[in-house]
Amino acid sequence: MEPVNVAIIYYSATGTVHALAQAAAEGAEKAGADVRLRKVAEPAPQEVIDSRPEWAQHVRDSSGVAVAGADDLEWADAVLFGTPTRFGNPASPLRVFMESVGSLWFQGRLADKVYSAFTASNTAHGGQESTILALANTFYHWGGIIVPPGYTDPIQFQTGNPYGTSHVAGEGPPSEVALQAARYQARRVVDTAAAFKAGRAA
Ligand SMILES: Cc1cc2nc3c(=O)[nH]c(=O)nc-3n(C[C@H](O)[C@H](O)[C@H](O)COP(=O)(O)O)c2cc1C
Repeated sequence: MEPVNVAIIYYSATGTVHALAQAAAEGAEKAGADVRLRKVAEPAPQEVIDSRPEWAQHVRDSSGVAVAGADDLEWADAVLFGTPTRFGNPASPLRVFMESVGSLWFQGRLADKVYSAFTASNTAHGGQESTILALANTFYHWGGIIVPPGYTDPIQFQTGNPYGTSHVAGEGPPSEVALQAARYQARRVVDTAAAFKAGRAA
């Protein structure tokens, strides 16, 4: 069977979600998928970015990551979306991307794909679950197959978020536990998408 195509599409201002996205890409690749790691376009003006040195640094560090397009969504059998939590919701640059693919949705071309999501927030109760659940609202509209990590692996009992990988950025960069959780979540997404793809091909 052809490998599963996985797109990992994320927004990150200061690198935390980028690190989770990279770990998810590793996990998906290790599970045998073809992977596209894609950032969404950065809409902030350069002077705003420059007002926070860690933001400007991350923009420079991630300049080699390709920008997500509608073709990446079309190509994918499974998509993992990553976003910082902002006021308890997904960051607007990711929303802009998701709202730019309305014509694909209208043609039914976002349906029957596996979707999953991960996030970071500054504090433990700053809205990680609400962010992931808010992304899921869109997956419902797209007719997606939502695959959360649940408590289906021992790493999930360490990280403790069944909705999706999440990290408290206020405690520093993602720990090995968070990175492992992201790798695991991606593996689960690939395994589920592979089973679905095989079932449809049979
Ligand atoms: C406009 C804005 C709103 C934010 N809202 C929240 C929030 O509701 N809860 C929270 O814990 N952190 C919040 N944060 C902190 C971000 O979640 C945190 O900086 C982010 O997870 C870091 O990810 P990044 O390094 O990938 O950009 C907010 C940050 C910004 C800039």
